Amino acid sequence: MIVLKSLKKYFGKLKVLDGIDLRIDTGETVVVLGKSGVGKSVLLKCIVGLIKPTAGEVWVDGVRVDKANWSSLSRLRKRFGYVFQGAALFDWMDVLENVMLPLREMGIPPKEARERALRSLEHVGLKGAENKYPAELSGGMRKRVGIARAIVVDPAYLFYDEPTSGLDPETSRMIYDLMEKLDSELDATTVIISHDIFLARRFGKRVIFLDAGKVEYDGPLSGAKESPKFARFLGEILTKLS
Ligand SMILES: Nc1ncnc2c1ncn2[C@@H]1O[C@H](COP(=O)(O)OP(=O)(O)O)[C@@H](O)[C@H]1O
Ligand SMILES: [Mg+2]
Repeated sequence: MIVLKSLKKYFGKLKVLDGIDLRIDTGETVVVLGKSGVGKSVLLKCIVGLIKPTAGEVWVDGVRVDKANWSSLSRLRKRFGYVFQGAALFDWMDVLENVMLPLREMGIPPKEARERALRSLEHVGLKGAENKYPAELSGGMRKRVGIARAIVVDPAYLFYDEPTSGLDPETSRMIYDLMEKLDSELDATTVIISHDIFLARRFGKRVIFLDAGKVEYDGPLSGAKESPKFARFLGEILTKLS
């Protein structure tokens, strides 16, 4: 379970997060939506302990993340799978080495790490691509490698930061399908950060809309009309597309 209490993150005068209260139950899948620059990535980084909040509390599985010492934080992080915005692969490592990386960092022996990485690649439909280098891959394949690397640790928590940004609609749909498959197979608590409303439509049971540092709407996508700001956000995107 993830619990945020009055979470604030300021960068100097810029109040990016200004009092976020949120509870995400174990096994839940939520989509966090909001305009570019609103603080979605900052929110995710606060949850996983990559950014220290200015004020408030972050709890994951009863551990106070923002106050945790290095060893309890690293224990917790072994349970996290993180799909970074823009895949963030290491260009000098082949696909297999990229996917094995989190396991190597956890001290898993090479043979086991290799087997698990191969299984993870098969899971995302990339069997046979293990010896390619990131530069040889399409955008969609790179994202899949990023997803394979996130799930290789068998995470209890899966975090996606803009999993479809920069992809064409057809490739995006393939990624939605993959995410949906993983969502039912892994039963990880999943937080998806995005400004892609089509993605929100697929995972729309609970959508959290951030605006001006606050949670402006929290509920099913179908109830978006309750929040004029959220409705306007959705409207603007749909007009841009039409
Ligand atoms: N390390 C940082 N130092 C200063 N400002 C930052 C830092 N990280 C993010 N910001 C600012 O915080 C705001 C929210 O960023 P971000 O969470 O990346 O937005 P998004 O919703 O697009 O993911 C932006 O204005 C960004 O410039
Ligand atoms: Mg972002």
